[in-house]
Amino acid sequence: MKKNFSLTILISILSLVLLTNCGKKEESAPAPEAETKTTEPATTDTAADDNAKGKELFAQCTSCHGDTGAGDGPAGAALKPPPRNFKAPAAEWKNGKTLEGITKTLKEGIPGSSMASYAYLSEEESSALAKYVLELAK
Ligand code: HEC
Repeated sequence: MKKNFSLTILISILSLVLLTNCGKKEESAPAPEAETKTTEPATTDTAADDNAKGKELFAQCTSCHGDTGAGDGPAGAALKPPPRNFKAPAAEWKNGKTLEGITKTLKEGIPGSSMASYAYLSEEESSALAKYVLELAK
């Protein structure tokens, strides 16, 4: 009778340990599923992506250069020299109406004007933005 009693206690303790362990496992289980859900799709380097990105980045330029790059943004009206109208002929551009010229402008700004340096942009961002400006300049 005494032996049976200890056995019952042993079994009870064992099942208790097993049960608590099971509970713990379930709590930490959902992690891998959440991880796969948050991973972004691989970015593709298409022209459409570049254009969308360029347009998004150009939002910080429109206050001076205007929505279409005509140099008619509300903050640009009082500036001297005025913001470049991107449709202006190449001869009026200080760094050149080319991808290289626009990239230089973004990196260094135009000294002596309110065109600031945007050197903090990544190479990828600067390239997408320069392409977008060149599109507006057409
Ligand atoms: C605070 C007003 C302001 C903002 C904001 C601004 N610009 Fe300008 N930008 C100017 C002015 C002013 C000039 C003309 C400078 C000159 O003629 O010396 C200019 C000139 C330019 C030029 C012509 C460079 C050349 O070769 O003559 C480009 C390209 C340009 N900006 C692109 C941008 C882009 C892209 C952004 C946004 C990332 C931007 N600007 C934001 C004021 C601004």
